[in-house]
Amino acid sequence: MNTLESEDSFGLTVCHKFPVAIERGQGSVVWDVNGKAYLDFTSGWGVTSLGHAHPVVLNALNAQAARIMQNPNSGFTYSPVRARLLNRLQQVLPGDLCRVFFANSGAEANDGAVKLARKVTGRTTVIAISGSFHGRTLGTLSLSGGQENAARYLPQVPGNLFAPFGDMAALESLMSDQVAAVILEPVQGEGGVREQAAEYAQAVAALCQQYGALLIADEVQTGFCRTGSFFAVDALGIAPDILTMGKGIASGFPFAAFALTEAVAAGVAKGDHGGTYCGNPLGCAVADAVLEFLLENDIAAEVARKGGILHAGLQQLQQAYPDMVREIRGRGLLFGLQMASDEQVMALTGICLEAGLMVTPTRNAVLRLIPGLLVSEAEIAQALGLLHDALAHLQGQHRDAA
Ligand SMILES: Cc1ncc(COP(=O)(O)O)c(C=O)c1O
Repeated sequence: MNTLESEDSFGLTVCHKFPVAIERGQGSVVWDVNGKAYLDFTSGWGVTSLGHAHPVVLNALNAQAARIMQNPNSGFTYSPVRARLLNRLQQVLPGDLCRVFFANSGAEANDGAVKLARKVTGRTTVIAISGSFHGRTLGTLSLSGGQENAARYLPQVPGNLFAPFGDMAALESLMSDQVAAVILEPVQGEGGVREQAAEYAQAVAALCQQYGALLIADEVQTGFCRTGSFFAVDALGIAPDILTMGKGIASGFPFAAFALTEAVAAGVAKGDHGGTYCGNPLGCAVADAVLEFLLENDIAAEVARKGGILHAGLQQLQQAYPDMVREIRGRGLLFGLQMASDEQVMALTGICLEAGLMVTPTRNAVLRLIPGLLVSEAEIAQALGLLHDALAHLQGQHRDAA
């Protein structure tokens, strides 16, 4: 059996949409088992922030693997590499965030954040935003608005309310002294690259403060320079009480975290949260090396600069194909092309794949682009050229069909 047949027969954990088996990657390029190269503008859903097989990641992983991978008694013992990462995080965490829990995935980080918000406030209601995506555990699925899956796993975790996107009046009407937290993505990635306005985010923060509710910023997708600032909340001008991180934090090694202010941490006791692999030395070593690289090379500024180039190119595409590309949204190196229909997004994704460009179809008829943060200007130009050709191809198909 080849890779595709074996996974189709035995793989229950994956959901195949594309007939391609990827074997290796280097920088922004990946190769399939037949040796065909693809420009990766998905970075594994925003994960491989330094691109594939970056020496910084490989060296950190190898060196730490040779030292120790898992502490005896895990989190009951101290770890120099964990301490190093904790210190380095202090340089980038926004506002008063300073205390950190580690996790293995974004969903786990969000679950932990909500769990502790409930404990610290003594309240049970959590408000999320329609169209949000916070993960696929039972807890986070119950906070993911517009997620068709949620209805398949009833009963959901109770106590959650949803406010329509960007609607401050609606949020105010849901707010009460029963609300433990509001959880907000600065940019809804899975929801179709929908950016929160700074005024809205600041009003949400003020409302939370007024009612003694905690503001949880879910930066699993937007954190670690993705949107052109270290965290997206930096650009929004808000200081959350809890901030969750994942994906790009360790550029491909499964790792995540959430940070609390000292005031929130005061309500948490030792042993309230944890897990076997949380803050494991391998993940800490890679995250620390990634963080050091991002800081030393001012990657946030680079992402903002290259994002400007990509944005300008995408706007030209929109002008060339206004019937298909309705809107360009996003910033940094996270963009969404609002297409006319989901069918169009899937067709375009397939044409791009054939031509050697990998992009991500996202909910609500959006084609998402999330290249690695070190993508070169030449690769951006190449991707724009391939997208241009793919749109021309799709337009031709529409004409033929008409
Ligand atoms: C904003 C946001 N939060 C949470 C998650 C869940 O992260 P994970 O898939 O690592 O559990 C995602 C994943 O796409 C995400 O985009």
